[in-house]
Amino acid sequence: MIGVFDSGMGGLTAIKQIVKMMPQEDIIYFGDTGRVPYGTRSKDTIIKYSRQDVRFLLSKGVDAILIACGTVSANAIDILRSEFNVPIFGVVEAAAEKACELTGNGKVGIIGTNATVKSGAYVKHINAIRPDIETVSTPCPLFVPLVENGFTDAEDEITRLCAKRYLEDIKSFGADTLILGCTHYPIIAPVISKVLPGVDLVNTGAEAAKKLFESISPRGGSGRIEYYVSDDVDSFKSAASTFLEMPVGDNVFKVDIEKY
Ligand code: DGL
Repeated sequence: MIGVFDSGMGGLTAIKQIVKMMPQEDIIYFGDTGRVPYGTRSKDTIIKYSRQDVRFLLSKGVDAILIACGTVSANAIDILRSEFNVPIFGVVEAAAEKACELTGNGKVGIIGTNATVKSGAYVKHINAIRPDIETVSTPCPLFVPLVENGFTDAEDEITRLCAKRYLEDIKSFGADTLILGCTHYPIIAPVISKVLPGVDLVNTGAEAAKKLFESISPRGGSGRIEYYVSDDVDSFKSAASTFLEMPVGDNVFKVDIEKY
């Protein structure tokens, strides 16, 4: 059974891809909706929260974990890997590899939360693969609350204005590839594409799910997905069903994450 976690809904971008490739897999998803966003918090807090998230998933019996969160992958993966005896996959390596493969002009933009951009993790991984690639990184802290609050329509005026402001530097830099370094961002990819037409977008959650697929052997479960959240169950249910384009049904439960 695979455990997947994020600070909120963003990790559903990975779930979507896992379900496509491994429909038989049983999955436990945890979205820390009571404590989202992580990306404006200190590294210490991100580490503390993500330890609790991993402990919770392990208590459910998962035997592999996908951190479907750019912020945790960028700031805490080494510590989590050293402390927990379970294979842990993150989004940074997979997305960096994809961006290196895609770029034609050697200019890659990176957007993410404050904590992700501050960590420099995507730049480090990109330049470890291809030192010739130039990058520009921009934090986009308002994108997460916009997604969590449903401002996700391709025509949404507020999200479009926000994207226009945030993506100015990346546009003038001339990036031909953009890493959506936070797993919430693919949910507003149509808005981002309108501001940056012709730029290839890297969906970090989906790339990480592909990497997971290559790395683990299928376990042949029943394809059951259980969702756990740390705040209101009903609002997650309706948003998740819309986003995943499949009903999440009654499989959403509340958990007191502070206990882990
Ligand atoms: N999906 C998380 C990420 O990929 C959202 C960040 C946040 O909670 O601020 O970084």
